[in-house]
Amino acid sequence: MRFDIITIFPEMFASVFSGGIIRKAVERGLIQVNVHNLRDYATGKHRQVDDRPFGGDEGMVFKPEPIFAAVESLRGGSDAPAYLLSPQGRRFDQRLAEEWARFPRILLICGRYEGVDERVSRFLAAEEVSIGDYVLTGGEPAAVVIVDAVSRFVPGVVGKEESVARDSFSRGLLDFPHYTRPREFRGMKTPEVLFSGNHGKISSWRRKKALEKTRLKRPDLLAKADLSPEDRKLLERMDKERKERKTP
Ligand code: ADE
Repeated sequence: MRFDIITIFPEMFASVFSGGIIRKAVERGLIQVNVHNLRDYATGKHRQVDDRPFGGDEGMVFKPEPIFAAVESLRGGSDAPAYLLSPQGRRFDQRLAEEWARFPRILLICGRYEGVDERVSRFLAAEEVSIGDYVLTGGEPAAVVIVDAVSRFVPGVVGKEESVARDSFSRGLLDFPHYTRPREFRGMKTPEVLFSGNHGKISSWRRKKALEKTRLKRPDLLAKADLSPEDRKLLERMDKERKERKTP
């Protein structure tokens, strides 16, 4: 899979992709990450990429011409989708990461300043995408997040492929708690069930903890999750136990 990132700050990407799983994936030829300087596609003496907004306002707006030129030139004859990164976009999530990993190639346009000429979003980009409800100084950190999350779905990038499917969010729930040695640390103990040797018991404990955690921290996920009849029973039992604890 190939990613093409269009940015006015290509140097921001120098170190982020040079370590860990992403670097290995690049070295093994599973993914390709190409960073392009938007200014290379700007014309004129000053290679200007931004201008003052029509109608008057503070700040500067990215001009459409360099972005159209960059996307059209990088796309070549292909129909690779281009996504504009901005806080105004559709929320990027695990489902979208999985979907995009099926494309052989995507282009990511990093917005900057006070905005990007609307014609980029309306006529060039497949979609405007946001990584969360907060405003970054630009789309660059969002591009890093997207390359990372999408790459994990490219076959072979993550060691055991089935572990991606087991991830929290892929299963619609938050992850269960993990423990390793030492069994007791500063008086903090590891749950006994993990030493029971009973795999059935361990997996139902994990499922229960995942449900508990999701209900506590992300009830919105629980409402959408694909729950089995056993999950519903576990939730009912947890409710009952909670009520019993409350009644004196
Ligand atoms: N650029 C600025 N804020 C952003 C966000 N939340 N997501 C994607 N791109 C952005």
